[in-house]
Amino acid sequence: MSAIIQAKGLRYSYEDGTEALKGIDFELQPGETVALLGANGSGKTTFALHLNGLLKATAGSVVVDGLEVKESNLKAIRRRVGLVFQDSDNQLFMPTVLEDVAFGPLAAGMAADLAMERAQQVLEQVGMAHKAGKAPWHLSAGEKKRVAIAGILAEEPKVLVLDEPTTFLDPPGQRALAALLADLPQAKILITHDVPFAERLTDTAVFFREGRIAARNSIAAIVREFDW
Ligand SMILES: Nc1ncnc2c1ncn2[C@@H]1O[C@H](COP(=O)(O)OP(=O)(O)O)[C@@H](O)[C@H]1O
Ligand SMILES: [Mg+2]
Repeated sequence: MSAIIQAKGLRYSYEDGTEALKGIDFELQPGETVALLGANGSGKTTFALHLNGLLKATAGSVVVDGLEVKESNLKAIRRRVGLVFQDSDNQLFMPTVLEDVAFGPLAAGMAADLAMERAQQVLEQVGMAHKAGKAPWHLSAGEKKRVAIAGILAEEPKVLVLDEPTTFLDPPGQRALAALLADLPQAKILITHDVPFAERLTDTAVFFREGRIAARNSIAAIVREFDW
């Protein structure tokens, strides 16, 4: 099987000189789910931002579905990798939930009626069809997260990257999100500090430490090894 995501020797330094990634080797197979664990500042978000080209590697490479992440491939790569940001407010910006979810397909050139139909369909999939006409900023944190995920699903990605998706959710919201994600066939990268949440979705984790992947193992083994 060929990897859906493959990073090799990935390095990244921010403009102020911070070396956030110091040589990351990482593979994700189609349909596989991996949790990214590790301390604040260890490079998880920086890594995620490379997976659809929001940041450009200082050295090394990322290949998505056989396509190298570089300027000329960005459109194709962003269709394949859906990034769900930690704060949904950074993702939702249209006047209604339906328009927000239809935005991606419309921007990709889909006819308006088809885009609305597609939006309606993914809103049903995430259990938010009844809020289609609402303003996104009036929703609860859990609802916003579902709508943000719907917007990503509308673009039919092969990989979902979720950056700390449970941060603003209460425990029932966290369980509901895990149930929703468990039903999605996409490969997933879950950046989270919430070990029970991760364990609902996968047994596999990598542990980020100071810009490197210190280990890839079962979640239980990682928690033991790093006293996490
Ligand atoms: N925009 C930025 N400019 C400079 N340094 C940054 C920026 N964003 C993150 N960093 C630094 O890069 C390192 C990795 O951060 P980040 O990827 O956000 O870690 P994590 O998501 O694991 O908490 C940290 O040292 C952080 O301070
Ligand atoms: Mg982060």
